[in-house]
Amino acid sequence: MSYRVVQWATGNQGVEAIRAVLDRPDLELVGAKVYGADKEGVDAGVLAGREPCGVLATRDIDEILALGADCVAYFPRHTSLDEVCRILASGANVTTTAFLFHPRSLPAADLARLESACADGGSSVHGTGLNPGNLSGVLPLALSGMSRTIEKVTLQERADWSFYESTHITFDNMCFGRPAEEVTEEASDFLRFNSGIFQEEVALIGESLGAGLDEITASVELAVAAEDHEIFGIPLEAGTVSGQRWHWQGLRAGQVLVEIETLWTVGGEYPSHRPTPLDGWTLTLEGEPSIRAHLLTLMSYERPLPLAEHVRAASIATAMQAVNAIPVLCQAPPGVRTMADLPLVRAGFGFGNATPAPPY
Ligand SMILES: NC(=O)c1ccc[n+]([C@@H]2O[C@H](COP(=O)([O-])OP(=O)(O)OC[C@H]3O[C@@H](n4cnc5c(N)ncnc54)[C@H](OP(=O)(O)O)[C@@H]3O)[C@@H](O)[C@H]2O)c1
Repeated sequence: MSYRVVQWATGNQGVEAIRAVLDRPDLELVGAKVYGADKEGVDAGVLAGREPCGVLATRDIDEILALGADCVAYFPRHTSLDEVCRILASGANVTTTAFLFHPRSLPAADLARLESACADGGSSVHGTGLNPGNLSGVLPLALSGMSRTIEKVTLQERADWSFYESTHITFDNMCFGRPAEEVTEEASDFLRFNSGIFQEEVALIGESLGAGLDEITASVELAVAAEDHEIFGIPLEAGTVSGQRWHWQGLRAGQVLVEIETLWTVGGEYPSHRPTPLDGWTLTLEGEPSIRAHLLTLMSYERPLPLAEHVRAASIATAMQAVNAIPVLCQAPPGVRTMADLPLVRAGFGFGNATPAPPY
């Protein structure tokens, strides 16, 4: 049996998802939703750098919903609860890298709409990815299985976005290259939204480990570029924002119990006063015992490859966490399914062989 999948948005993550769906015998690509007029009518295989697969991309949402897919992999740059509720009510499940990491953190009315759409369609929705996603949702819970007690969970991400080709996200959404006063949590809808999804991750860890958090806070400290830079042809001028250090903290009675920190730069200038962990992600569970893991995605630890190849690794990881969830999500009871609720999501194509998902 194969699950019929629509790929919704074909950016960096979307094309990685298409490649996986085309390769897997248990998944069948039946549709592709695009935004760009230049992609309308183009074969989804071609958009993903593959041979034509016979699925033509469309901007028409009704056409997508009429396909009756089992699952929509929803990876747009800007999200819409209305859209997701329509998809769910139509009977298709939704796996997304873009939002809904802990829907129970949403305003009650939004959560009620999601749950009602799931009930109408007999469908489920799941937000996941890399971070937010596996490293801030699945892995802390998996490691906690070795803990007698936990005092604090911290995830630190160090990344230079100069290599992330999604420049609309880097410059338009995340506001790198803007004057410092334009980069605060409240300065734009997207920065508020982005801060919210990391707060959802803090809430997810806190809830799943019984931390009893009574407050979740967000803060950002900025750095400005000393020199001009150019990132995939987009200028980032000296004096504009080139570094964002965010902290999202979950507290109980004033004490920080769960923390996600991002040490983000664009242009390669790294502020000397900041901590200097290795690139990638450092996850620490302070407790008994205290456990630390450092994680870095590369295209290979064995083969020498150009940097441009390694850069794709994080996009593949993000997209695969969502694609690999499709079989368990399609089997899950209708409703909102978080990384803490779903059975462990595993690779669907390990060692070159299809590995059937475990029964839900
Ligand atoms: N959870 C994680 O770990 C993680 C990591 C990285 C990214 N993400 C998220 O994953 C999603 C996809 O990221 P990406 O790297 O693929 O981004 P990207 O390369 O910039 O691609 C953006 C996608 O958004 C679509 N788009 C264009 N205009 C849009 C509009 N007005 N409204 C909504 N979407 C529009 C594009 O459509 P076309 O198909 O026509 O090109 C494209 O598919 C984003 O929401 C991003 O924030 C999550």
